[in-house]
Amino acid sequence: MSFPKNFLWGGATAANQCEGAWNSDGKGDSISDHNRSGSRTSNTHRSFDFVIDTDKYYYPSHTGIDSYHRYKEDIALFAEMGYKVYRMSIAWTRIFPKGDEDQPNEAGLQYYDDVFDELAKYGIEPLVTISHFELPFHLGEAYDGFLDKRTIGFYENYATTLFKRYKNKVKYWLTFNEINFGTMEHGKRINGLFNREYTETEQYQALHNVFLASAKAVIAGHAINPDFQIGCMLAYITMYPKTCKPEDVLKTQQTNEKFNYFCGDVQVKGHYPYFMKRYFEKNQIQVEITDADKKLLQEGTVDYYTFSYYMTTCIADDLDKRSDKSGGNLFGGVSNEYLETSDWGWQIDPIGLRYTLNQIYSRYEIPLMVVENGLGAFDQVEADGTINDDYRIDYFKRHIIEMGNAIEDGVDLIGYTPWGCIDLISAGTGEMSKRYGFIYVDRDDEGNGSLDRSPKKSFYWYKQVIESNGENLSN
Ligand code: BG6
Repeated sequence: MSFPKNFLWGGATAANQCEGAWNSDGKGDSISDHNRSGSRTSNTHRSFDFVIDTDKYYYPSHTGIDSYHRYKEDIALFAEMGYKVYRMSIAWTRIFPKGDEDQPNEAGLQYYDDVFDELAKYGIEPLVTISHFELPFHLGEAYDGFLDKRTIGFYENYATTLFKRYKNKVKYWLTFNEINFGTMEHGKRINGLFNREYTETEQYQALHNVFLASAKAVIAGHAINPDFQIGCMLAYITMYPKTCKPEDVLKTQQTNEKFNYFCGDVQVKGHYPYFMKRYFEKNQIQVEITDADKKLLQEGTVDYYTFSYYMTTCIADDLDKRSDKSGGNLFGGVSNEYLETSDWGWQIDPIGLRYTLNQIYSRYEIPLMVVENGLGAFDQVEADGTINDDYRIDYFKRHIIEMGNAIEDGVDLIGYTPWGCIDLISAGTGEMSKRYGFIYVDRDDEGNGSLDRSPKKSFYWYKQVIESNGENLSN
């Protein structure tokens, strides 16, 4: 197994899933702060309250795992594992509490200065997601989020504020987390569409405005510091035809194009792919795309491509009528009898990661990074306090082997940041019991627990993996 010498090993989190302190030091409420906790059975259907009622309900993001106050302890643990990079997001509402202010909130900016300084102490490179499901609630309520072109300007102002402030502290940026979520019906809220019912035209118009915002940020960032590396981020759900029946194969191709290829094509190639024009025509979707927009998309292409990879799925021609549906991250599909599933029904597919890396690289030929991957599982704390998560080690081991194989295939893979490197709140369900971390956090689904941190068995294993640059995977 030979990973490049400067391979960026690390871990990933997002502000709304770990920081807590949801209304401290001038922070405003983001859309995530309106999500109540859900459960495994209500996956992706957490209640979203227009009006927050903390007397009546528990909102997990409000306290998170309290990393707002405990970031030094957490970063020291990441450093002990040997991280080269730490993917984190900035909470937009710490910087612009409502989103449409002209001037930023200094306390918010200072907080991230402190975090970056702490990372620098250990030589850990920050990788910053500018927007990770954290749109200011006010932008949705007052503007219908990205449906209104003014939100492009608010985002540009926010991103530019970050670029200027952290010009010498952050090199790697991502404009939007899992931007392709915006192609899905239940992804509308992420772009601020939650006041009423919206048409598909409006959904795609909002997504188009997100593309424009991303392109503007890329251009502004490069002008501020030409060394910045600014990337895109997609939820990549690799799709296999359920059978070799041509109808299944064709349906797979079309579903894959729309979910996996469309947004990456816009952000990497700088223009809409032909198949979306066909999709828009067929479904009477009229997105306004001006010549100036086309120029902007062309000029604001990204430097590298990142994605989350948890699972693969199968597609069948009669997908909507099938009873053998599989669970999944944003997207279900049909189950694959050759794969095992996680406790939450996500299909585990390490070889699929090698296939995916080759698929993406052959399409774009720019550096790739896997910025989310991991196993959401129930963990058991033993009487002596240890957590023996061999299942997690096994999951990572098999995925790292396939990343190594993809590198040998010739894929330019530059880094790997497993998701939820410290236990945090699940985005889909709001649960704490869906744990991804190398570090255990004492907190339950109802918000009880000391919040104390403790390394799991996988912590020591991952440390050894990083130390050996991916060569020693034994446990
Ligand atoms: C990705 C998101 O969709 O998957 C993360 O970028 C999320 O925010 C992760 O946490 C895992 O999903 P879940 O629902 O298990 O938290």
